[in-house]
Amino acid sequence: MLLDIKQYGDPVLRAVSKPVETVDDSLRELAANMLETMYEANGIGLAAPQVGVNLRLVVIDTQEDEPEEGEEPETATVNGQVRPVADIMPLVFINPTLHPYGKQQLFTEGCLSVHDIRSNVSRLDHVKATLPQLDGSVLEIDCGGLLARCLQHECDHLDGFLFTDRVSSAAKLTLKKKLQRLAQWR
Ligand code: NI
Repeated sequence: MLLDIKQYGDPVLRAVSKPVETVDDSLRELAANMLETMYEANGIGLAAPQVGVNLRLVVIDTQEDEPEEGEEPETATVNGQVRPVADIMPLVFINPTLHPYGKQQLFTEGCLSVHDIRSNVSRLDHVKATLPQLDGSVLEIDCGGLLARCLQHECDHLDGFLFTDRVSSAAKLTLKKKLQRLAQWR
């Protein structure tokens, strides 16, 4: 079932989400619906607050596009083994713990909850993450690239942050009017 994606200005996007305490059928159904909604919207990640639920649940699929010819597949260390990132997609996890590290890197971000706005955001370029799965197992991931970026962006949603909070102050000035308009028309 497709879910309604909440838009900039909706207070649900600004709340700190609660940990998931029980994985039951309704949570599994929510996760499945979030994946469907994310794919339909051509997104690579979606956090539960974006569909109006303040729980620490995220879905990610950074591998929607086939790698270009000659391009090395993106890899990550997953529970101690180096594996293609494609192997662990889609990712569905609850109650994540993230430890970003490395160097600051600028990259253009957008968000399904911030219609039509893209902007450069500086974030650390690697992440160590503990990602509890719905079946009770845990993925320990060490990654860079798009997945490191996406994990930080999605987990920000769980604490009420949007990428537009993290742009430079100059970019914030540029975005201010557009964001005010979005908040009015959501
Ligand atoms: Ni987002």
